[in-house]
Amino acid sequence: GAAVEVDISALKPGEKMTAEWRGKPVWIVRRTPEQLADLSGLNDQLADPKSERKPDEFTPAYARNEGRSIKPEIFVAVGICTHLGCSPSDKFTPGAQPSLPADWKGGFLCPCHGSTFDMAGRVFKNKPAPDNLEVPPHMYLSETKLLIG
Ligand code: FES
Repeated sequence: GAAVEVDISALKPGEKMTAEWRGKPVWIVRRTPEQLADLSGLNDQLADPKSERKPDEFTPAYARNEGRSIKPEIFVAVGICTHLGCSPSDKFTPGAQPSLPADWKGGFLCPCHGSTFDMAGRVFKNKPAPDNLEVPPHMYLSETKLLIG
């Protein structure tokens, strides 16, 4: 399918926008410095913290880092749960919320069977989803123009 060009200039820290690529929702999140700093403390709780499982399918080589991204602050992922394909909800606010652990740092919650993902789309352990959220092929055409596909 055709690649999709997205202007991310209006995206503020802590916000998410959604583009469509090959009929799939692609999330673009501008992470805050706090959200980035929280990623490094989560490894023990994650099923695949370094995205080593099926990397060719879920994590392109340029996103095989802690934030699973090209630019540290910008996270790009397909917004489809790797369990059975539901759409996870944004749970960016830290702190206890129903269905989330008390020390929740922010991320995504799948409403279908309760899989949780961190702000890099990495799946937490002992959840039905086996894999981290897919990072689609993408590149930057300029500071504010992203090409997905
Ligand atoms: Fe997301 Fe089952 S589809 S947890």
